[in-house]
Amino acid sequence: MKTLILGASGLVGGNCLKWFNEQGWECLGTHFSFETPATEFYNTLDHTDTSNVDVDAFAPEIIIHCGALTWVDYCEENPEESFEKTVVSTHNAVALAQKHNAKLVYLSTDYVFDGEKGFYSEEDQTNPLGVYAKHKLEAEEHISAQLSDFLICRITNVYGDEIRGKNFIARLSANMVKGDAMDLKLPIDQYATPVNAIDVARAIYLLLDAQKKGIYHFASTDYLNRVQLAERVFQYFGHEQVKISSVTTHDLKQAAKRPLNGGMSAAKFNSEFPHFRWTNVDDYLSELQHRLQDKE
Ligand SMILES: NC(=O)c1ccc[n+]([C@@H]2O[C@H](COP(=O)([O-])OP(=O)(O)OC[C@H]3O[C@@H](n4cnc5c(N)ncnc54)[C@H](OP(=O)(O)O)[C@@H]3O)[C@@H](O)[C@H]2O)c1
Repeated sequence: MKTLILGASGLVGGNCLKWFNEQGWECLGTHFSFETPATEFYNTLDHTDTSNVDVDAFAPEIIIHCGALTWVDYCEENPEESFEKTVVSTHNAVALAQKHNAKLVYLSTDYVFDGEKGFYSEEDQTNPLGVYAKHKLEAEEHISAQLSDFLICRITNVYGDEIRGKNFIARLSANMVKGDAMDLKLPIDQYATPVNAIDVARAIYLLLDAQKKGIYHFASTDYLNRVQLAERVFQYFGHEQVKISSVTTHDLKQAAKRPLNGGMSAAKFNSEFPHFRWTNVDDYLSELQHRLQDKE
C-alpha cells in the first residue's frame, strides 16, 4: 500500500516509517524542521509551499498524520499556534485524504479525557482539560465528521527508539548512561499507560491490513506514574548521582492541566487481535541494556 507518513522525523511517525517499510509497503515519510536521511520536507500547514515533496505524484492510499505540536504547556500559552499545528494541520490532512480518496490515520491522546476515571475505553465520555487536549479532540471531531474511512488511534506516554531520543525514557536512559548527575522532581499523581512507538506502528499496521475503521485505544500492561517510570529506568541504568523525588502536580504548577488518572484500555483492540503481544517498559529497557553492552 502507498503510505504517506506526515511527521516521520518524530517518534511515532519514525517508527511507522520503519515498520511499514519492513512490511514491504511503499512509504513516503516527511519531516518539517528536522531533516532525516529517510524523509522529505512537507509542511502540513501550507500545501502550496514550493519546498514540499510532491505528494500528489506519490498518490497515497493511506495517510498517517503524526505531524503535531505535542508540548502541552507551550500549547496552553500559545493557543493560536496550537490551533494551527493541531487543528488546521488536520483539516489539511483531511483535504489531502479526500483529494486522493485515501484512508486517514490520526494519532490522538488520553488528554481528550479528564483523568477522573483512568483506563479509558473508546466509549468513555471525552472532557478535555487544556488547550492541547481541546485541539486534539477538535481534530478528531473534524475527521469523523468529514471522512467515512479513518482510524483514530489514541495513545499516551509513548517511548522507544527515535533519532532525537527526546522521549522521557530515552532521555533519562541516555543521561544516566552518560553518568550525568540528576536531581529529578517528578509528579507522583500523573498515571498513564506507556506504550512503545514500535508497538503503535505494529498495531496501526494490523488495523490497516484488516481494513478496520473508527477509534482504537492502544496500551500495554504497564500502568505507571512518572516517578515509577523513572525508577524503572533507574533499575537498569541508575547510579549514585541520580536522585528521584516525588512531587504533586499541584506543586509543579505546570501551565496545562493534566488528566491525572489517565491511560487507556486496549480491550477492543486486544479482542479483535488476540495474538498481538504488546511489549512493555521492562522489555524495552532490558533490550536497550543488551544493545549498549554489545556496543562496549
Ligand atoms: N509522544 C507521546 O507521548 C504522544 C502521546 C499522545 C499522543 N501523541 C500524538 O502522536 C502524534 C505523534 O507524536 P510524536 O510523539 O511522534 O511527536 P514528535 O516526535 O514531536 O513528532 C512530531 C512530528 O510532527 C512534525 N511536524 C511538526 N510541525 C509540522 C508541520 N507544520 N508540517 C509537517 N510536519 C510537522 C515534526 O517534524 P520536525 O520534527 O521535522 O519539525 C515531527 O516529525 C501527535 O499527534 C501526538 O499528539 C503522542
